[in-house]
Amino acid sequence: MGFTEQQGRLVKESWEVMKLDIPNLSLRFFTTILEIAPAAKGMFSFLRDSNEIPQNNPKLKAHAVKVFKLTCESAIQLREKGEIVLPESTLKHLGSVHLSKGVIDAHFEVVKEALLRTVKEAVGSKWSEEMKCAWGEAYDQLATAIKDEMKAAA
Ligand code: HEM
Repeated sequence: MGFTEQQGRLVKESWEVMKLDIPNLSLRFFTTILEIAPAAKGMFSFLRDSNEIPQNNPKLKAHAVKVFKLTCESAIQLREKGEIVLPESTLKHLGSVHLSKGVIDAHFEVVKEALLRTVKEAVGSKWSEEMKCAWGEAYDQLATAIKDEMKAAA
């Protein structure tokens, strides 16, 4: 599926809104991940040792923001170039980190669902099926690039 101007714009616009509320949204993102897949708790250094999800934890925020931001950048690249272009060193790093933490394909689906729910909450009445497809498509292509790199590193 090609990525349209409109899809690129929808992702960019929603990310602009999300940026204003990072502490809250990153917490919502991780709460949702753990609701869908409680077992993911053990993977994250900042979740493993606490009973509740830590507020304002820099590492927690960093992972959430990286997933949001890289997905948004992927959407822009899909629109402009028709494909995702990440520096080889970035991809290799992402592949090896996720491989070493024991991330598997099914986890990428969980994170996708959590991402979509978080965007939905963030944008409220602006949410639409088209916006969902745009974020979903950009995420899928990014996740595929990371998964391919994980397989290459395994
Ligand atoms: C770490 C991005 C999906 C689990 C990271 C890092 C980045 C990143 C940039 C930091 C690497 C570093 O240390 O320099 C992404 C992106 C994803 C994605 C863009 C999806 C497109 C996932 C999924 C899981 C996961 C599906 C599993 C539920 C982890 C864990 C770490 C990590 C456990 C190490 C965090 C820590 O404890 O410090 N990820 N990630 N990620 N990611 Fe992801």
